[in-house]
Amino acid sequence: MRIIERAAELSAHLGARRAAGDAVGLVPTMGALHDGHASLVERAATECDTVALSIFVNPRQFVPGEDLDTYPSDLDADLVVAEKAGASVVFAPTVPEMFPDASRTTVHVAGLGDVLEGASRPGHFDGVATVVTKLLVLARPSRAYFGEKDFQQLVVVCRLVADLCLPVEVVACPTVRGFDGVALSSRNRYLSVAEREAAAVLYRALRAGAASVVAGERDPGEVVALVAAVAEAEPLVTLDYATVVHPETLAPPEVLAGELRLLVAARVGTTRLIDNVAIEVPE
Ligand code: PAJ
Repeated sequence: MRIIERAAELSAHLGARRAAGDAVGLVPTMGALHDGHASLVERAATECDTVALSIFVNPRQFVPGEDLDTYPSDLDADLVVAEKAGASVVFAPTVPEMFPDASRTTVHVAGLGDVLEGASRPGHFDGVATVVTKLLVLARPSRAYFGEKDFQQLVVVCRLVADLCLPVEVVACPTVRGFDGVALSSRNRYLSVAEREAAAVLYRALRAGAASVVAGERDPGEVVALVAAVAEAEPLVTLDYATVVHPETLAPPEVLAGELRLLVAARVGTTRLIDNVAIEVPE
């Protein structure tokens, strides 16, 4: 496995792999790798000849007061996970390498980046969209892998790829969960034992909402109220939002029909967690 710190070296190396006929896959991450990240690399390794994993704690996507300075980081452990999962290249640049002082350009995905997570984390998706665009331009992969866990991020990335005509297929990968149903996240390590137990209510609440639709509920307000009631029954959980949205526009539907997404965000202690499930409304 090759470890690369310089952007130009990444482009040159992957360019050579492409010239040799390889399909290149890219898995962007911020490190502190867990089985969710590994599932993306494993999927990429089944579909691509060369898999590049990037590890970059992107300062532009943290809003003031967030955990930029304490975000977990352990490159040695990450390299073990990356290699085991099938990465052939790890790109771990410094901040000045990705964002030299002179850089002035931001990618803004209007509307999609301003709602939900974007409403409580202003500027977050500008940071995500900008770094993902740069990584795609540097690596020029044929496929890039993102988790459904961060559903709004996936929607933002799909939109920017289409809008900027980037020649890459975005591959959405299912959420990997712990034994208790909690979606794996690098931030779960901030949870105390009691908070971890409490966090499991989020997936239970989402499943209750999805089950109510299967049972015939067609009023989005009722589904959201049920999700909120289940989540708020847990005293350690403070719900930020529960909502049903269209999976491409993130707009709330007036009635439940077709494919939709049920999303929640909540604080468990001081840790903010997000999760979501698909809802397919039967005809
Ligand atoms: P990070 O939180 O490290 O996540 C990297 C990728 O792993 C994202 O696509 C995320 O959706 C996916 N992922 C995280 N937890 C997952 C889980 N439990 N199951 C499946 N996939 C999971 O998301 C980011 O980093 C950054 O915003 C990034 C895209 C790298 C841009 O900086």
